[in-house]
Amino acid sequence: MIRPMNESHVSAVAELEKLCFSAPWSRRSIASELENQLSLWLVEEREGVVAGYVGSQSVPPEADVMNVAVSPAYRRQGIGRALMEALITELSARGMESLTLEVRASNEAAIALYEALGFLQVGRRPNYYQDPKEDALILRKELCHADPIH
Ligand SMILES: CC(C)(COP(=O)(O)OP(=O)(O)OC[C@H]1O[C@@H](n2cnc3c(N)ncnc32)[C@H](O)[C@@H]1OP(=O)(O)O)[C@@H](O)C(=O)NCCC(=O)NCCS
Repeated sequence: MIRPMNESHVSAVAELEKLCFSAPWSRRSIASELENQLSLWLVEEREGVVAGYVGSQSVPPEADVMNVAVSPAYRRQGIGRALMEALITELSARGMESLTLEVRASNEAAIALYEALGFLQVGRRPNYYQDPKEDALILRKELCHADPIH
C-alpha cells in the first residue's frame, strides 16, 4: 500500500538510502522532510516492511524528485512505477505543472522507468555525480491538470 511517509518509516527509508545510493540522505535529513510543507515523500509498505519510497520537493508550480528506490528483494514487481505514478497524481492535484529529476547516465533501469512514464531528457550535467564520477541526465515530465469545464 502506498502512503505518505511518516515518522515510523524514517529509519527504514534511511537504511534503503544507504543500500541504494553512494551519497545517501541521512536519517536526520529524511526526518526533516516531514516538517517541510513543500516536500512530499511516499512509501510502499509490504507486510509491514518499507519496500520502496519516493521523495520530492516543490517550488510551485515546479516539483523535483529527490530520490526513488525499491528494496532489491522487491524490484521488478511494479513498485517503482506505482510510487512514481502516485507521486505524479498527487503533485498534479496540488497544482504542480512539471516534475524534474536527475539520473546517472548509466542507470538503465531508472531511465527505462522514467521514459515509460513519459519523462523526456531536457539536459545533461557533466560530472554531476561522484563515487563514481558520472554525468547526470535531466529528465522532465509536464504534468496535466483536470481543468474544470467552466
Ligand atoms: C529504479 C528502481 C526504483 C525501479 O524500481 P522497480 O520497482 O524495480 O521498477 P518497476 O518494477 O516498477 O519497473 C517499471 C519499469 O521500469 C523499467 N525497469 C525497472 N527495472 C529495470 C531493469 N533492471 N532493467 C531494465 N528496465 C527496468 C522497466 O521498463 C519496468 O517495466 P517492466 O517491468 O514492465 O519491464 C529500482 O531499480 C531501484 O531502486 N534502483 C536503485 C536506486 C535507483 O537507481 N534509483 C533511481 C535514482 S535516479
